[in-house]
Amino acid sequence: MAARRLRHHAEVDILDDVRTYWEADAAGYDAVPSHHPADPGVRAAWAAALARHLPPPPARVLDCGAGTGFLTLIAARLGHRVVSLDLSESMLARLRAKAAVEDLAVEVVVGAADQPPAGPFDAVIERHLLWTLPDPVHALRAWRSVTPHGRLLSVEGIWGSADPAEKVRGWARTRTARLLGRHHDHHAPYPAHVLAQAPLANRTTPASVVLAIEEAGWRGPLMERLSDVEWAIRLTLPALLRALGVPPVFLVVASA
Ligand SMILES: C[S@@+](CC[C@H](N)C(=O)[O-])C[C@H]1O[C@@H](n2cnc3c(N)ncnc32)[C@H](O)[C@@H]1O
Repeated sequence: MAARRLRHHAEVDILDDVRTYWEADAAGYDAVPSHHPADPGVRAAWAAALARHLPPPPARVLDCGAGTGFLTLIAARLGHRVVSLDLSESMLARLRAKAAVEDLAVEVVVGAADQPPAGPFDAVIERHLLWTLPDPVHALRAWRSVTPHGRLLSVEGIWGSADPAEKVRGWARTRTARLLGRHHDHHAPYPAHVLAQAPLANRTTPASVVLAIEEAGWRGPLMERLSDVEWAIRLTLPALLRALGVPPVFLVVASA
């Protein structure tokens, strides 16, 4: 009992630190093209990926860790009714403002990913959230419980030390970007004590994501590398960075 109480305290503390980090990141988040793409080709490549795998619109879609609305806005433009869940009110405030500019009806919910709003949803979508979670399988199970007849779309990338070759390329990209005067994607490094408790941090690969999805009870996972998205992003980069490529982007789709 005492051990469980201690674990609960640790998770609550981490959640506070995670929220604090993203609250601080919200102001600069959309200045990074991969967070808020302005390029029409990149936007269209992302839209094609979601359109291929979401149910026909209008479906009820839950975007977990929605941030400033990267996936939410694409899905809403495709005609879906999206509920956007995030811990950070500041991230969601930006999402809401962007949705209003385009007159897109989006519902926002401030809360933890493992406590999704009541379903049923036809699809759950997430991008770049799983690596931040202390218990991704627990969250994936909770999403399945509110999507009893629907599907999951999980978009992740390979960064950090997940793959030795990517680690070298990532190092080269960061150095080159600095030389070209480009800034880091976030306001500060992610807190080390939070990373230490996130099992997928620096270990996000297609295999680790598929395993977590299956462990949570989702069925028939299909994995696709989003080469069109990568290609469209590469075309927006200066020649030197283009030659170094972009981190691999992949999508896993599974059924409840
Ligand atoms: C890397 S950002 C991704 C945002 C967005 N999905 C995108 O693709 O740009 C991670 C987001 O997840 C949110 N987040 C992190 N941990 C969370 C949790 N336990 N519950 C809900 N949201 C969380 C953060 O506030 C942040 O907005």
